[in-house]
Amino acid sequence: MTATIPEIHRGLAGVVVDTTAISTVFEETNSLAYRGYPVQELAAHRSFDEVAYLLWHGELPDAGELERFRARERALRPLDRTTAELLAGLPRTCHPMDVLRTAVSFFGAEDPTEDEEGTAGHLAKSLGLLAKLPVVVAADHRRRLGQDPIQPDPDLGYAENFFHMCFGTVPAPEVVRCFEISLILYAEHSFNASTFTARVVTSTLSDLYSAVTAAIGALKGSLHGGANEAVMHMLREIGDPEQAADWLDRALNEKRKIMGFGHRVYKHGDSRVPIMQEATDRLVARAASPETTRLAALHSSLRHAMISRKGIHPNLDYPAALAYRLMGFDVPMFTPLFVMSRVAGWTAHITEQLAHNALIRPLGVYTGPAQRPLPQGV
Ligand code: ACO
Repeated sequence: MTATIPEIHRGLAGVVVDTTAISTVFEETNSLAYRGYPVQELAAHRSFDEVAYLLWHGELPDAGELERFRARERALRPLDRTTAELLAGLPRTCHPMDVLRTAVSFFGAEDPTEDEEGTAGHLAKSLGLLAKLPVVVAADHRRRLGQDPIQPDPDLGYAENFFHMCFGTVPAPEVVRCFEISLILYAEHSFNASTFTARVVTSTLSDLYSAVTAAIGALKGSLHGGANEAVMHMLREIGDPEQAADWLDRALNEKRKIMGFGHRVYKHGDSRVPIMQEATDRLVARAASPETTRLAALHSSLRHAMISRKGIHPNLDYPAALAYRLMGFDVPMFTPLFVMSRVAGWTAHITEQLAHNALIRPLGVYTGPAQRPLPQGV
């Protein structure tokens, strides 16, 4: 008698594993919504910290709630001496994602309440991460350039403070707004690979820092968050806007994945892309240097060629990569910028997972040798 092989869903494609009240892509509008609000509207009218509050609490804050939330976030920004020393001791050559992963793991080791459960404790830890991760990213950026860190400024908003800590100045409001839009759009996307990783870790009743550390590891890969960095490497490899179509044909023939294109959920275009592209176009118009114009032309040529050759549309990483470059960020920082934002979504999911937990433990179909006796002797 032959055993029936169960249907296999490689990559868990199309598998529904749980319910969530945090976000969804509404089919009728192909639009991502956080707690029911379309991201396009949030990106147009709200700040990133309001969005983090929304993801964690289920509702937008009123004026008083937002003021208190901001005061707490600003107070939590500074790193203690031990963390600063630990990070300063890491090899300068290590990838900024490794620095972030190490930092979050260390925050867990330092926090005596690491294993405490309960929503209030989770929200406090989540806010601590939201406040401190930009400080880690900025300090690491400066360390790689051989520069001293710049302390966070409690008088500056979340996005402004990040520029201040990286570059010692805050750019024009339009640039800050474009960055804030990217943070809002990156903040949450349901059961994506890194969020699912965080939920798997949480489902074993492990702690929040372990879940976020694991999620950072999952985001690092180039099929997920690492794609924004990979987009810029790819554009540098192509080099010339005139070469984009030929380069693409060769790459597709070699069965290469074109970074920043395609999506597991969106098959007819990522609903976050138009708003990010518009904001990026404003940066391009503002910069207007020959180098910027050429990079933007190459970016546009590749997008058109990919849509016409394969019908595969860009995902958020494609315009975000160009925007981050125009803002002056080094390419290896791109995925850490994604982490600074997505930590809001991860931690919302960690809290939701715990609220109605079930251990996540799928099955696999065994394809190894048939049962056999262990050789005797030796
Ligand atoms: N380049 C070339 N071909 C592609 C791409 C791409 N970027 N995306 C999809 N395809 C092709 C596949 O080769 C496949 O073709 P086939 O049926 O002839 O084999 C078909 O489209 C279906 O693609 P899958 O890989 O099955 O789609 P899946 O849902 O598994 O993949 C993924 C989604 C991993 C995002 C894929 O599109 C990809 O590798 N993109 C490049 C990396 C990237 O940009 N990742 C960022 C994701 S979004 C985010 O994290 C914010």
